[in-house]
Formats: sequence, structure tokens, C-alpha cells
Amino acid sequence: MAAGQGRVGRDTLALTLGIETSCDETSVAVVEDGRRVLSNVIHSQVELHKEFGGVVPELAARDHLERLPHLLEVALERAGAKPQDIDLIAATRGPGLAGCLLVGVGVAEGLSAAWSTPLLGVNHLWGHIYAAMLARPDLEPPLLGLVVSGAHSDLVRMPEHGHFQVIGRTRDDAAGEAFDKAARMLGLGYPGGPALDRLARTGDARRQPLPKPSLPGLEYSFSGLKTALLYRLRDLGAAVTEQDKADLAASFERSVVESLLEKLDAALRDHPYPEVVVSGGVAANTLLRKRATEVVGTRARLTMPPLELCTDNAAMIAAAGYFSQFTSPPRGEDESSYFTSPPREEVESRYFTSPPHGEDESSYFTSPPRGEVESRLRLSGGAVGPVLVDPSLGW
Ligand code: KG4
Ligand code: ZN
Repeated sequence: MAAGQGRVGRDTLALTLGIETSCDETSVAVVEDGRRVLSNVIHSQVELHKEFGGVVPELAARDHLERLPHLLEVALERAGAKPQDIDLIAATRGPGLAGCLLVGVGVAEGLSAAWSTPLLGVNHLWGHIYAAMLARPDLEPPLLGLVVSGAHSDLVRMPEHGHFQVIGRTRDDAAGEAFDKAARMLGLGYPGGPALDRLARTGDARRQPLPKPSLPGLEYSFSGLKTALLYRLRDLGAAVTEQDKADLAASFERSVVESLLEKLDAALRDHPYPEVVVSGGVAANTLLRKRATEVVGTRARLTMPPLELCTDNAAMIAAAGYFSQFTSPPRGEDESSYFTSPPREEVESRYFTSPPHGEDESSYFTSPPRGEVESRLRLSGGAVGPVLVDPSLGW
């Protein structure tokens, strides 16, 4: 791995550069040993999308591309690291918006070739769980996770690093999506979740009760609750007051939070876990944080990452990439070659130096055979191949 002459006093600890561009946050981070955040630079596109009331994918992708070079510089500088110190590059490969993912993966591939550093495509959802490992350095699987984001509400078992089993998910909207849509109905605009959280703090859920969704087993559903809010607002019509809206925000929030935690509670009753993680953008919600602590109680140790690690960030991607090193290699593949890149000199001579004397000039600038390149690109989850952008990726 990299010699690390760039960082003063650095020993042989593995530095991972993380890149996150799946939606409306551009982020670059440097993480040491998968646990210690040296830098985590996040640019939110909130201002860019505000006037449209939601994320415009094309604008988001272009903005990622414009901002990444500068964010990369800042992330390295804040970490006190140089390119040659980076041992591994980890970029979100999905799920997310396809155009946005392509930008992050494309930049990561460029850096990987230029620095001759191994590259991993990372599952964004894994990242949300690994955010908790950054928050609590002694946290280890087995654990039970509740990942609640803009597109997912998943209850997952994590028996060991790099292994996830989904035991519950939503049938329709994700919790974050439900918050965003409710916020829009209440005239709060984008980004909806944090705005609804703020408004709910001034409301009283008891004055505007809404149903709490409850499906059998560990499944979630939020579409009925959304419709209930729509009908209530329609019934109130022009007479709706600001206090009504605050009460409705509080009531909607309570229904979502209690539904999320009812299933977490059931999963905990089914099976004991020493650790519980609640993470993803919705884990920034004030009521969810308070109630999760009460519901989990003393049955397990609960970790909810701090707010900047709950919402999308590259540090969690770097952490997930780092720990993917220790998951089993793809079937049939030689374990010793997993994650290792060709010696730096070899790559440099292939890409950056004039052909050795006597070598045919026509081969200058031709890329190495595909097999060789692919052996340098590893995907988390075990597959081997070029980093594929997969917006619909599951766990
Ligand atoms: O994890 P995340 O940053 O991006 C995705 O991977 O989707 O999650 C974004 C979601 C959005 O739906 C946003 O409204 C929601 O998290 N969110 C919140 C809060 N902060 C962010 N929802 C409720 N309360 C919050 N404080
Ligand atoms: Zn996310």
C-alpha cells in the first residue's frame, strides 16, 4: 500500500478517501482506519434546488461535477494528506440518482488511475450503517440497524462486517419521502424533513390526531398516513391556522416515528442484539432521537450518529469502503490479490512515462488489458468488475 511519505509522522495506517454524490450533497472525506474522520467536507445543494421545491437531477449532477475538484483539495488539506497517502478510494455506486452517481464514480475512477490507488464502489445504505462506527469507535457487529433516509426505511441485521439481511422495509414511501411530501402539503417547501421537524416542535399532536400506520410483521407503509393528512387539510380548507399546521406536523411526525419504532421494538423482542443503530437522514429527527432512546432502553446499546453523519456524507462511504476490505473475497478469487493494486512503478510506467527504449511507440497511451484494470476495481458486496452505477441497488 502507499508509502505515506506525505503525512508527517504517519505510520502505516490505512487512509481511505470517500466520495459521495448520490443525491443533493457533494462530499469528500478522508478517514483513517475506517474509524477516525480526518476530514469530511460536505456541500449541500439546498440553495440550488430551493426554487424548484425538490431536487432537480440534472442540476444536481452538474453541480457535483463543478464542486468535486475543490472539495477534494479541501478534504486532503484538512486531513493533512497528500494523494500518495491515500490507500483506498471509496465512491458511492448506488442507490441514488444515476447522473449524480456517474459523476462521483467517474471522478473516483480518474483519481484511481492517476494515483494508482485501488477503488471500491460502495453501497450508500451500507454507508449509513457505517456512519455509526465513526460515531462510536468500539461499535462492532452483530447489530440491528434501522436505516431511514429519503428513499429507504429498512430494518437490517448486520451479523458481521459487510453482511446485511433486510428483515423489514416499506411497502410504499420511505420515511424521509413521507416527511418531504407532508412538508410540501403544509407549505414548508424543500428540504421538507428538517422544516417539518422545526414546525412540529411548536405543535401539539393531540389536537390533530392522525392514524399510526401498522402493517403485520416488520413492514412499513406511509402512503395512508399521507392521504390522511391530505384529507385533513382539505377539510380544514381556508380556515387552517398556523397552529393547526404545527399541530398536524407534530401529529404526522409522531405517527411516522411511532411506526418506525414499533417495528424496531418488535425486532428487538424477536431476537436480542447487543447493539442497535438508527441512522440515515431521518435519524436527524428530534422526536425519533428522543423516542428511540426510550424504546431501546437498556435492551441494547443504541448509536445514533451526530447530525452531520446522519445525512449524506463521504466519511460514512469511506468507512464502509474500508471495512469492505475485510469481507470475504468473491468466489474463486485469490484472497491475496483482493484489493491490491499493481506496484506503483508498474502503473506509472504504463501511463505516464515514455515507452522504454526499444518498445513499439504505437503501444504508447494504449490502456492495459481490461482484465488487468478490472482486477484493480473491486466492488463492495463481493462482485468484481468495473464500478457500476446502480441507482436501484438494494443491500
Ligand atoms: O440520508 P439522506 O441525507 O439522503 C438519502 O440517502 O436519501 O436522507 C434525506 C432525508 C430527506 O427525506 C430529509 O427530509 C430527511 O432525510 N431528513 C429529516 C430530517 N433531516 C433530514 N426528516 C425528518 N426530520 C429531520 N430533522
Ligand atoms: Zn443517504
